[in-house]
Amino acid sequence: MKKIITGVIGVALLAIALFAFIDLDNLDNYTGQGIPSYITKDNTPSFNLLSNPGATLGRVLFYDKNLSSNSTVSCASCHLQSMAFGDATQLSTGLNGGSTGRHAMRLAYSRFGEEERFFWDERAESAEDQVRRPIKDFVEMGFSGTNGQPGFDSLINKLSVLPYYQTLFTFVFGDSEITEERMQRALAQFVRSIYSFDSRFDEGLAAAGDLNADFANYTEQENLGKHLFLTPVAEDGTGCQECHRAPEFDIDPASKNNGLITVANHPELIDTSNTRSPSLRDLFSPMGAINGPMMHDGSMNINQVMTHYNEVPQDPANTFLDDRLTGAGGSLGLTTDETAAVIAFLRTLSSQAIYTEARWSDPFDENGNLDVIMSVFGASADKGIDFEVYPNPASDQVRFTGPVKSGKVSVFNSSGQLVKQETFRQTLDISTLSPGIYYLVVRTNTGQQSEAKRLIVE
Ligand code: HEC
Ligand code: HEC
Repeated sequence: MKKIITGVIGVALLAIALFAFIDLDNLDNYTGQGIPSYITKDNTPSFNLLSNPGATLGRVLFYDKNLSSNSTVSCASCHLQSMAFGDATQLSTGLNGGSTGRHAMRLAYSRFGEEERFFWDERAESAEDQVRRPIKDFVEMGFSGTNGQPGFDSLINKLSVLPYYQTLFTFVFGDSEITEERMQRALAQFVRSIYSFDSRFDEGLAAAGDLNADFANYTEQENLGKHLFLTPVAEDGTGCQECHRAPEFDIDPASKNNGLITVANHPELIDTSNTRSPSLRDLFSPMGAINGPMMHDGSMNINQVMTHYNEVPQDPANTFLDDRLTGAGGSLGLTTDETAAVIAFLRTLSSQAIYTEARWSDPFDENGNLDVIMSVFGASADKGIDFEVYPNPASDQVRFTGPVKSGKVSVFNSSGQLVKQETFRQTLDISTLSPGIYYLVVRTNTGQQSEAKRLIVE
């Protein structure tokens, strides 16, 4: 799509380029990322497929501190891009310095799993259900509506006055109304977009075409580690594959707990409910650094994880220990070399692009500002419908003369801010608009959206 930049817009673009901005004509490409054919598990619901506009809005919400009641915490405060969207600290700090009860999970690759429920204890029904919960959490973002905290309505009111949301919600959903459901959809799309399948494991598997074959790009030690990981305990492997299933490395939905029943900071309590694990991809960054401490209580490094599985605690109080981790499965008897090989293999699962690419990064500038720009809307619109307005230039009123004569019209100024939005029949009153260049986008009652038409107001 060729971009038509008029003189005036050119100036606007230049000025805006100094600030953080989202360009709706050049959306980041979330949907075009390749998913290798060996990846078959996907928890995307049919009602919320990934789209570039949706994920773009999700990215803005994800990084926006306005989503917390005192405007200090965003999703990204606890889910860091540099850590595959997990957290460096054992527990995360929320609003007013409060601490979460569990360790923040890495979000990368959470789309590719059979288990549809989210959180360590699987209390959320889906990603859509999950993403609104931190906002309403008393400690995390504080729109709980309890104990003197504001409720979700206050959040919607707070966001509704922000110009970039008026533009973005209109762009994605056809009008500027902000609802909890729309926020859920966009956030879930962004979370599901976080993947890049560019690890050494993916290279090796793509080339070998067979998970069980030795990978040409692996060392002997890494191939041994892969073999041990994939092989059941009864056949002298470590049995990890039964619960963390390659090539997605998602958790078996039937898994019970793995013998770790501690509650962080509460030695007097036990918790047998932690039966979900994030994907084992990206336990380490591409540089080899650990992406935060492991397990629900953030209590372990990788050596401690291996020690744990080598001799799984058989505590009679743990009534929900997975059967696969009892008997021989709970007492692996690994040699030092075997342990090192499994760790070496896990280190080959680190991605590259998710840590660095702009489409998953913070779109705000250091002062928390963001502009949304569009020089020509047409690039991203449906283009299913067409309309004309007359006269143009105009000053008081325009008349719709093309095939579409009624619907909802959104009027944007030249820097992409929504300045007017209303339903129209035949005519639109523009007498309140100050002189300048505007863009009109029409949405029909059946939901089709037009390209933007330029209107000059005199
Ligand atoms: C104060 C820190 C904090 C903030 C802010 C936060 N999270 Fe989390 N997140 C966590 C913790 C801790 C967990 C694990 C909680 C548990 O299992 O009890 C988690 C879990 C998740 C999960 C579940 C992943 C899985 O595989 O089951 C998703 C998805 C998620 N967060 C998304 C978000 C989104 C979206 C936001 C912003 C709307 C957000 N988080 C804000 C700390 C935070
Ligand atoms: C019976 C199923 C099961 C088996 C077998 C199993 N795990 Fe786990 N694993 C889990 C569960 C459940 C969790 C989450 C536990 C928690 O945090 O309380 C987990 C968590 C982990 C974590 C922490 C992930 C994170 O993001 O913090 C690592 C690492 C891990 N397992 C590695 C392994 C390895 C290596 C093996 C083989 C030696 C293995 N697991 C075998 C069920 C299993």
